[in-house]
Amino acid sequence: MTEHAQLAAWDQHHFWHAFTQMEEYEPQIIDHAQGVWLADTQGNRFLDGISSMWCNLLGHCHPGIDGAIREQLDQVAHSTSLGMSNVPAIELARQLAEIAPGDLQHVFYASDGSSAVEIALKTAFQYWRQCENPRPEKTEFIALSQAYHGDTIGSASVGGIERFNGIFSPLLFDVHHLPTPDPRRLPETIPQDQAADYFLAQLEKLLAERHEKVAAVVLEPLIQAAAGMVFHPPGYLQGVRKLTRQYNVLLITDEIVTGFGRTGQMFACDHEDVTPDILCLGKSLSGGYLPLAAAITPPEIYSAFLGSAASGRTLMHGHTYGGNPLACAAALATLNALQEGQIIATLPAKAEQLSSHLKKIKQLPHVAETRQKGLIAAVELTAVPGECQPFAAELRVGACICQETFSRGVMLRPLRDTLVIIPPLSISLDELDLLGSALCESIDIATRQAANTASTCPTPSAS
Ligand SMILES: Cc1ncc(COP(=O)(O)O)c(C=O)c1O
Repeated sequence: MTEHAQLAAWDQHHFWHAFTQMEEYEPQIIDHAQGVWLADTQGNRFLDGISSMWCNLLGHCHPGIDGAIREQLDQVAHSTSLGMSNVPAIELARQLAEIAPGDLQHVFYASDGSSAVEIALKTAFQYWRQCENPRPEKTEFIALSQAYHGDTIGSASVGGIERFNGIFSPLLFDVHHLPTPDPRRLPETIPQDQAADYFLAQLEKLLAERHEKVAAVVLEPLIQAAAGMVFHPPGYLQGVRKLTRQYNVLLITDEIVTGFGRTGQMFACDHEDVTPDILCLGKSLSGGYLPLAAAITPPEIYSAFLGSAASGRTLMHGHTYGGNPLACAAALATLNALQEGQIIATLPAKAEQLSSHLKKIKQLPHVAETRQKGLIAAVELTAVPGECQPFAAELRVGACICQETFSRGVMLRPLRDTLVIIPPLSISLDELDLLGSALCESIDIATRQAANTASTCPTPSAS
């Protein structure tokens, strides 16, 4: 048995993978990586078009980040954040306060995005019990349909994707879910330029009815990632901020995917000049290297938690590895590289390059729509050219396209039939060309094959 075969057998037997049907799982084992390139144990080398699940920010084996982790390793690998501190966690909190919108200053660390959202929910809940004019009846949350905020029970409760959460619904707490503010789902009578107002009116109606009971609105600003990179209409986020202020409700923004330049600005909130009451960060925070996430609050919220230990005002929450020094050192090196390399300033040219490929892709008969913000993009397929009709789910067209791109040296991962492109920000223009061309060819081949299969199928299903 080859070494790969042995590893693959153990992988299949012992390693229960995330969001993976193990009966269908075919081992693909990463061996090493460099820049935007991943290499597996079978000698395949491929471009990481999804930033290793939306988190690798500046490429793999980045010398600055590698070096910072090694240096920190010689100091201390872990110390607790319960009543104690460590040097990189302090410095990182200070730097995050500097770059975060508005007066967000107080950083509560976690190890993953779901936990950062849990912290935000608990903070909002507790804040209303002990703020200057307590409102303990404010215990409810408003979230968006198709939202994804993580897999823990609290973060899943504010999530809205049935295929992830449906089975757990008896375990989840009740949340008001508003329709996804997706401009494609506007009634025909509403013009596109009124999309934000249309969806904001739904929020306003709910707030007018329930604001006395609502602790916070939770959303992914600008882009609902796991929903299929659904883009909100311009002005929606700012409108939500205005309404939440007007109705005295907190705003929690989950920038776990959109943070750190992916949309072209440091944070998605920056596009609409919005400062949330609680900002959740994760994924790219450590450059996509080590588990690290955070919920950041302004003084007004933070101060509601101050008092003697006996006062009962402490936020009774924490994770063993929150503020881990190695992860914080990686995050500091990431911020340093982002700023020193002026990475965000390099993005317009890269976004433009990606956009020119998307224009070609949009010409393909089975592409209904392309969307892009910065270096996040999505391609929507249609079974019927000129319309917007999904392929039959069993054809697994998105997965077939990604198999095709893989054979051309590009790894992508679809969200069903939405192709998602979210490469590390360090990707070069040439690498973007490779990605764009591979995707264009792959969509063309796989959608034509799927259309032929569908037309010869005796009982076609276009559901
Ligand atoms: C918007 C958003 N929030 C939260 C999470 C959960 O983060 P984690 O997987 O680190 O728990 C994700 C994960 O993809 C996400 O997309």
